[in-house]
Amino acid sequence: MTASVVVVGSANMDLVVATPTLPRPGETVLGEGFTTVPGGKGANQAVAAARAGARCHFLGAVGLDAFGDELKGCLAASGVELDGLRRVAGHPSGVALIAVDAAAENLIVVAPGANAQLTELDAVDRELIGSCDVLLCQLEIPLETVVQAAVAARAGHTAFILNAAPARALPDELMALVDVLVVNQTEAAVLAGLDGGRDASRAGNVPELLANLLASVPRVVLTLGAAGAAYADRDGTRLEVGAPPVAAVDTTAAGDAFTGAFAVAWAQGRPVEEALRWACAAGAACAQHWGASTSLPLQPDIDALYERAYQPQT
Ligand code: RIB
Repeated sequence: MTASVVVVGSANMDLVVATPTLPRPGETVLGEGFTTVPGGKGANQAVAAARAGARCHFLGAVGLDAFGDELKGCLAASGVELDGLRRVAGHPSGVALIAVDAAAENLIVVAPGANAQLTELDAVDRELIGSCDVLLCQLEIPLETVVQAAVAARAGHTAFILNAAPARALPDELMALVDVLVVNQTEAAVLAGLDGGRDASRAGNVPELLANLLASVPRVVLTLGAAGAAYADRDGTRLEVGAPPVAAVDTTAAGDAFTGAFAVAWAQGRPVEEALRWACAAGAACAQHWGASTSLPLQPDIDALYERAYQPQT
């Protein structure tokens, strides 16, 4: 049977400007082009999971505006099931202001808009969550909704994968419901309460971060950007996998591609090392293209990069 993933999360219209360098605080830089691209960590991960081969449902909220129409259209075109998508009156759809520099790095500011109105899940939502293999959440919607979704997952024996992005501290109540935590090093440092969460040099090394987070959750995936990902669990498994080398154009949504693909592999019951590599291939494939939803890879593209990068050549 096809693996099923339900995403409870955000949808944003990304307003993207390419720029030679990212501005420092107080600085103005001249950009080179402007595009609008459907995005939002929740919608991106739902599209990523659907394109990676899962049956995927999205529970989220957009406004009644033109951005809301476009976001809905993008999700539908990728095969995401939208029974749980709310259209909210009186609030604009979420937007993200994004600058992308010549080195493919980005800077993102999100105005949540309608995403902040996703405050309650009903019985139908809870039943849907409990019927899927994996629940996937991020932190661009109200925290109480993430907790409600996680409780529904636990009641239904659905695995709960939390991508704790953007970085913030989280209550024990939520951490206790997590089956797999997916974080980058900044997010890990903030969650672990290490000084210097915004200062990579003081944010703790990989083993330290993993050990710290295992005190709160049973399994941790630490994404390392172009260097790949690390994994640790309470059974003592420790893994580190490299990412396929690619020429990166824009790293926006690369983490979403990774997380969406990892959720699919987890829902399919694939071995964790294979799941990590396949997710790294999805993230690398995404970074080769411009934009968020526009760059999320299809299953054959992930498979091709995975085979090329990790299978022994004969
Ligand atoms: O992870 C990338 C996403 O972060 C963008 O699409 C933007 O909308 C923000 O949510």
